[in-house]
Amino acid sequence: MAVNPKIPENRFDDFIKKLELQALETAEERIPLYLKIGLKDAGLILDIGCGSGMVTRDIAHLTKGKIIAIDGSEEMLKVAKKILKMYKNVELRLGEAENLPFDDNMFDIVTCNLLLMWAKNPQKVVNEMARVIKPGGTILASLEPDYGGKLHWPEHPKVDPIFAGEAIKARGGDPHIGRKLRLLFVRAGLETTIGIGNTRIWSCQEDRAYYFHARDFYVKALKEAGLSQNDIDKWEYDYLKSLDEGVQLNFFPQFYAIGKKPQD
Ligand SMILES: C[S@@+](CC[C@H](N)C(=O)[O-])C[C@H]1O[C@@H](n2cnc3c(N)ncnc32)[C@H](O)[C@@H]1O
Repeated sequence: MAVNPKIPENRFDDFIKKLELQALETAEERIPLYLKIGLKDAGLILDIGCGSGMVTRDIAHLTKGKIIAIDGSEEMLKVAKKILKMYKNVELRLGEAENLPFDDNMFDIVTCNLLLMWAKNPQKVVNEMARVIKPGGTILASLEPDYGGKLHWPEHPKVDPIFAGEAIKARGGDPHIGRKLRLLFVRAGLETTIGIGNTRIWSCQEDRAYYFHARDFYVKALKEAGLSQNDIDKWEYDYLKSLDEGVQLNFFPQFYAIGKKPQD
């Protein structure tokens, strides 16, 4: 079962590296949400689209309950198996989010992080989450971006549109998933709250550190979008210069949705 067919093999390691960094950098916005939905005292939790397991590891730290983590990619699950080998409260399963291999009303909490943007049919995924959660249980979809809200200074007319959605679309994702979260959750019959997780603007030092970790990933995305090496070099020079000068500002909203399944 290949769920991320648009990630070529040579990009897999870069992608795992990016997920690891992303998990670290976004912990400050995810952890308050996990505490808010009562993860600590939940009995059975489902984490959908667990990928390499780095976010599942945060969940495992925060709960006394058992976690079933599911992903549609065997390759991802191989990485997750290593990352999560110390966590006896996590069970890994292969499966499609659009067709969850679980009975109705099983879980106290269902989580997903950065999944709906990549799902082939996000409404079907949320409907499935609503099916498997117990009445009164809570679903959290975190870190679902909306690149339409991306702000960046200094501007770069050739590169900005690529990072503001084109690169996501080219890989089969929906760069505007953030604004659709309310629709998806309400349509699934959930009592819905929507918010933005990342209210803090990163410092230039933080943006710089992130850039160097994720550089290979970004440069490859620009090459795939058709930019010449010359354009990429010039963009990178200007980008790093504005970070060194401490004048760069970079922000895009990461939405979350919390859905409660009504009691019968
Ligand atoms: C961007 S990664 C996020 C991984 C992890 N949640 C994190 O935040 O680090 C998205 C993951 O969702 C998985 N995925 C995407 N669509 C899926 C689907 N329909 N069913 C199951 N897994 C899916 C992919 O295989 C990938 O591992």
